[in-house]
Amino acid sequence: QDTSPAKLIAGYEAQSGKAADPAAGRAFYLAAHGTGKPETPSCTTCHTKSPKASGQTRVGKVIDPLAPSANRARFTDSAKVEKWFGRNCDSVLGRACTAAEKANLIAWLASL
Ligand code: HEM
Repeated sequence: QDTSPAKLIAGYEAQSGKAADPAAGRAFYLAAHGTGKPETPSCTTCHTKSPKASGQTRVGKVIDPLAPSANRARFTDSAKVEKWFGRNCDSVLGRACTAAEKANLIAWLASL
């Protein structure tokens, strides 16, 4: 535990040079991207449409909620955050997420 949602947002904003846009983060989370693996078109495939609810992996293992208001451990470990952005963005988008996309997403999740 070495960070917080606010610190991560500030770091990704500094990298991208843009202020985080929570509405864009929401749209990104809900979108069907269709550029990654066919079985994972969207973040919602595993995390559900409500980040305050629990999700599940492709093999049915429970994933605790992504929203910090529902799960205080979220966005408090920078290595974990980068590991899962790396893996999940590659699955869903077929590429890494940009710093702006990360800032937008965390800003939206932190607002819930
Ligand atoms: C964890 C984002 C799609 C499965 C995470 C974390 C982030 C994240 C940031 C770690 C957060 C933290 O603990 O601080 C995203 C985004 C997605 C996406 C932005 C869409 C682009 C998916 C999909 C799956 C998935 C499609 C299933 C195939 C998981 C699992 C974990 C995780 C298993 C780790 C378990 C846990 O922390 O509870 N995701 N995710 N994610 N995600 Fe996703």
